[in-house]
Amino acid sequence: MILKDVLTFLKLDNNDPIPYDLLLLADPSKRLVDQYLKQSDLYIARQNDETIGVVVLFPLAAEVVEIKNMAVKPNFHGKGVGHYLIENVVQVALLNKQKSICIGTANSSLGQLYLYQKLGFEITDIKKYFFTDNYAEPIYENGIQAKHLLVLVRQLNDLQKDKL
Ligand SMILES: CC(C)(COP(=O)(O)OP(=O)(O)OC[C@H]1O[C@@H](n2cnc3c(N)ncnc32)[C@H](O)[C@@H]1OP(=O)(O)O)[C@@H](O)C(=O)NCCC(=O)NCCS
Repeated sequence: MILKDVLTFLKLDNNDPIPYDLLLLADPSKRLVDQYLKQSDLYIARQNDETIGVVVLFPLAAEVVEIKNMAVKPNFHGKGVGHYLIENVVQVALLNKQKSICIGTANSSLGQLYLYQKLGFEITDIKKYFFTDNYAEPIYENGIQAKHLLVLVRQLNDLQKDKL
């Protein structure tokens, strides 16, 4: 297990190199990544000098922030880094007085659906054929084609910063 106290969560500046290797693990379209990065804040999880996780926060609406992209280096999967990234996103959202956090994932992303629901996100919407309409190449995970985008929302109203 990763020790949380050896991880740091940092916001990248415009001048910092963009960790495309990680971003493209979560979203294979560099065109779409570049599009949403223009309006987003990019945060990383760092262990010593190594960037091992990334999360992209996009202002979706008044008081709603969307996690547009989240990824962890493959050799660090399953060690709690994804959980750590979301915990820190909750803190950032609370500091920015957001009311909810939204995330979209594919019908085929079974592990991600497990992780997000375990962390308090609930499925609120489905954008049918999002993946087949927006991605040139078919995407398969767990032997299932990614066709639809499931939207999940975590409400923050009942949380206070110091009670997480
Ligand atoms: C999704 C992702 C960020 C999760 O990061 P992670 O550091 O492996 O997640 P954690 O170790 O914090 O996992 C937390 C829990 O979710 C489970 N989990 C996470 N990803 C899983 C997967 N793909 N399959 C099965 N379970 C998974 C873990 O087993 C763990 O369960 P537990 O708390 O009961 O032990 C990582 O798998 C990743 O980078 N995937 C590729 C990019 C991607 O798909 N991003 C999401 C786009 S929507």
